Amino acid sequence: MIDLQSFRRCLGKFSTGVTVVTCVDAKGNPCGITANSFSSVSLEPPLVLWNIAKVSNSLDAYLEAEYFAINVLADTQLDVSSHFAKSDHTLFDNIQHDMSAFGVPLLPDTIAQFDCQTYAIHDCGDHHIIVGEVLDFRSADVAPLLFFSGQYSEIKP
Ligand SMILES: Cc1cc2nc3c(=O)[nH]c(=O)nc-3n(C[C@H](O)[C@H](O)[C@H](O)COP(=O)(O)O)c2cc1C
Repeated sequence: MIDLQSFRRCLGKFSTGVTVVTCVDAKGNPCGITANSFSSVSLEPPLVLWNIAKVSNSLDAYLEAEYFAINVLADTQLDVSSHFAKSDHTLFDNIQHDMSAFGVPLLPDTIAQFDCQTYAIHDCGDHHIIVGEVLDFRSADVAPLLFFSGQYSEIKP
């Protein structure tokens, strides 16, 4: 048995960037969820992954989506991260976005974006690991939003 609070605190010592993963649900509604579980997996084929909690209200949308996008947030987008960390089905009502060639919402002013096709889904404990094959990507030379020890952070020059 491990102490969950201590485990969580220890995991938080691994600093990450912050992403918003987007897709469209079966009814055609745009979905977005803040996630820092993003990781690269493979270059050939080009694969990335992220994890979604089984308790997420948008779980079915991501399990059923053929396409999704990883939007990597810039240091100016803390408000975007907070917005998409909320449980709300009208999340996109006042949020400016474009649609990708694959019909997935893309957020403006991000540091990087990956257009993905769902490649594999693994049932793991209280999360699902969603692996995506990267079909397209783009990046900008701006500073990233970071997450460390349960708090937003930034790269110190
Ligand atoms: C910095 C940060 C990182 C997060 N990373 C994840 C993650 O990787 N996977 C996940 O399922 N939830 C993650 N969350 C929590 C979800 O964003 C949040 O629970 C979700 O948006 C709530 O809405 P839902 O229940 O409709 O999904 C994160 C939240 C924050 C603030």
